[in-house]
Amino acid sequence: MSDPFAAAPSPSPSPAVAPASGPTREATVRVAAVAKTYYRDQQPIPVLENIDLTIQSGEFVALMGPSGSGKTTLLNLVAGIDRPSSGSVVVAGNDLHGMSERQLAAFRSRHVGFIFQFYNLIPVLTAFENVELPLLLTSLSKAERRKHVATALEVVGLSDRRDHYPRQLSGGQEQRVAIARAVVTDPTVLLADEPTGDLDKRSEEEVLVLLRRLNQEFAKTILMVTHDPKAAASAGRTVRIEKGALVAAPKDGQA
Ligand SMILES: Nc1ncnc2c1ncn2[C@@H]1O[C@H](COP(=O)(O)OP(=O)(O)OP(=O)(O)O)[C@@H](O)[C@H]1O
Ligand SMILES: [Mg+2]
Repeated sequence: MSDPFAAAPSPSPSPAVAPASGPTREATVRVAAVAKTYYRDQQPIPVLENIDLTIQSGEFVALMGPSGSGKTTLLNLVAGIDRPSSGSVVVAGNDLHGMSERQLAAFRSRHVGFIFQFYNLIPVLTAFENVELPLLLTSLSKAERRKHVATALEVVGLSDRRDHYPRQLSGGQEQRVAIARAVVTDPTVLLADEPTGDLDKRSEEEVLVLLRRLNQEFAKTILMVTHDPKAAASAGRTVRIEKGALVAAPKDGQA
């Protein structure tokens, strides 16, 4: 079927970031020899030591590992929210090294959709307004924004909840609104940090079905952190962080 997001014109207001449809046939995500050390009171806290991760366009990858192993840190590096201590991160052909904060913001707006464990919806905005938020950073007209928001809410099955505030939604519905917000700009990559970690079994399954559909039907490239082998089983492959480096895990994610 056709991709309703594909009709979205580039939401990037800045030509500083290469369009996704450029001539390069790069992997969507290429993390090479990445290390990340935090410092607290001048004490180094090495978190990632030697991370190599390549994600091809259209892949759905689960990322597992013990608490504190650096999974969120790695997502933040791919999202251009944080910078590596060394090594390179290339997403959709954009080398994030050396980008200014403004260029990184434009990069995120164009290429990254982020889904959080606790949804991070704005409580004083309706579902519609929450989903519209990332589009306010683009040059789309009000009418075009309305169209894209309506499409995104339809894809997550919440057209009838568009005027509800987050407190008037169940946790699973809140997460589906957050997923609509993440995909409304037609990003190149979806990054999800324990998207089912706060949900009951039924809502978890709904969110996993939705992520699988976004991957299979709409060809979205997804990197999802999870502690749950059942969630990981939704992905095409699972990688695990062990001692600062990545190792492949069996399909069931139980490694
Ligand atoms: N800004 C920071 N300053 C100092 N240390 C940090 C910072 N952010 C994270 N850390 C440390 O880096 C390590 C990895 O943190 P991270 O949040 O990436 O782990 P995680 O794998 O996502 O864990 P969890 O499964 O609990 O979410 C932790 O030891 C954490 O304390
Ligand atoms: Mg984390």
